[in-house]
Amino acid sequence: MNLPDEAATIALGARLARALRPGLVVWLRGDLGAGKTTLVRALLHGLGHQGRVKSPTYTLIEPYQAGGLELRHFDLYRFQDESEWEAAGFRDEFDGHNICLVEWPEMAQGLVPEADVEIGLQIVPHGRAARLRAYSEAGKRCLNAL
Ligand SMILES: Nc1ncnc2c1ncn2[C@@H]1O[C@H](COP(=O)(O)OP(=O)(O)OP(=O)(O)O)[C@@H](O)[C@H]1O
Ligand SMILES: [Mg+2]
Repeated sequence: MNLPDEAATIALGARLARALRPGLVVWLRGDLGAGKTTLVRALLHGLGHQGRVKSPTYTLIEPYQAGGLELRHFDLYRFQDESEWEAAGFRDEFDGHNICLVEWPEMAQGLVPEADVEIGLQIVPHGRAARLRAYSEAGKRCLNAL
């Protein structure tokens, strides 16, 4: 999918908002500045979240309630090791109810549950290229609802 400008990324986020269901694990892949946080921000605003959406660069996680859903936004770029995972109680956040939106899942390999949906964003000469893949029945239902 071609996303020629930031508005196109925001539009995709708004569409995704309507297709999310409790318990989904969404992996967001792509280089620094690819648009992962932009997509999450648009998704949360699409669900009616009014406040700011800041990148959880240092906190690693930000919780949200919006549109009757519980969401957790992770940015694991600065994630260190398994002890940090346990100390922060991240395991409990993947509870089959929270919608978990995970930037940089590859930084905590083996700890982050497998994706239902993986969204890859690639920086291309004219904007971004998005690739959406489903890895479970719930993930397929999500992408079919887009
Ligand atoms: N389709 C697009 N075309 C061009 N620019 C875009 C597009 N989508 C988003 N951007 C811009 O790219 C930047 C993306 O920044 P963002 O913080 O969302 O990236 P990120 O993938 O979360 O990076 P990080 O890995 O550092 O967290 C923003 O400046 C945004 O305006
Ligand atoms: Mg980000």
